[in-house]
Amino acid sequence: MIIEDDYDAEFRYDREPVGALQGLAADRVVSIGTVSKSPAPALRLGWLLAPPSLAAAVVEYKLLSDRGSPALDQLALARLVESGRYDRHLRRMRAVYAARRAALLAALAEHAPGVRVTGPDAGFHAVAHLDTPGGEAPVIEAARARGVGLHGMSVCRADGSDAPPQLVLGFGNTGERAVRAGIAAVGDLLAPPLTRRRAASGRAARPGR
Ligand SMILES: Cc1ncc(COP(=O)(O)O)c(C=O)c1O
Repeated sequence: MIIEDDYDAEFRYDREPVGALQGLAADRVVSIGTVSKSPAPALRLGWLLAPPSLAAAVVEYKLLSDRGSPALDQLALARLVESGRYDRHLRRMRAVYAARRAALLAALAEHAPGVRVTGPDAGFHAVAHLDTPGGEAPVIEAARARGVGLHGMSVCRADGSDAPPQLVLGFGNTGERAVRAGIAAVGDLLAPPLTRRRAASGRAARPGR
């Protein structure tokens, strides 16, 4: 059985959406979606498309775990979807998040030249790979001293390890101006040492991601 956690599917920027596996093998894939990315995580609503053979067990488990999600919230969401306003909201927010993402990538290229960034194709996060001595903690502490909150990947790992050292750069709730100002303030902490030395010595640093 494959569990397809399709939680960022609505926010994919410069690539075609990835087709759902569920449609290829409905008897082998459990597809999960959520409204946590839109409209909001506080709603605590999602959906699950299970093969018919699992449906009864899933319903029973849901009943035993929380006796069901609030009916009024579900009805309000259904109304939003049926009216077309949910789709309009997605279209509008896709442009908003795309602009924040572009601001983040441009600010990194300008202020942290050479830093490797992965995962910005969908969702609200990019991962910056640190090539700095000492791992995540010194970078996070130095950024905090400058008034910028950074989040290390180590808090997302089961064992809390910071190897490899990475930062999770979220832009879901941060406007473009704040993204630009934040990265401008800490960019030198993220850039790999060689690029930083080049920049400090005045030679043109090679921009990159
Ligand atoms: C991998 C993954 N799946 C699903 C979700 C959505 O979880 P939930 O619907 O419980 O908020 C998230 C939240 O960010 C996530 O990171």
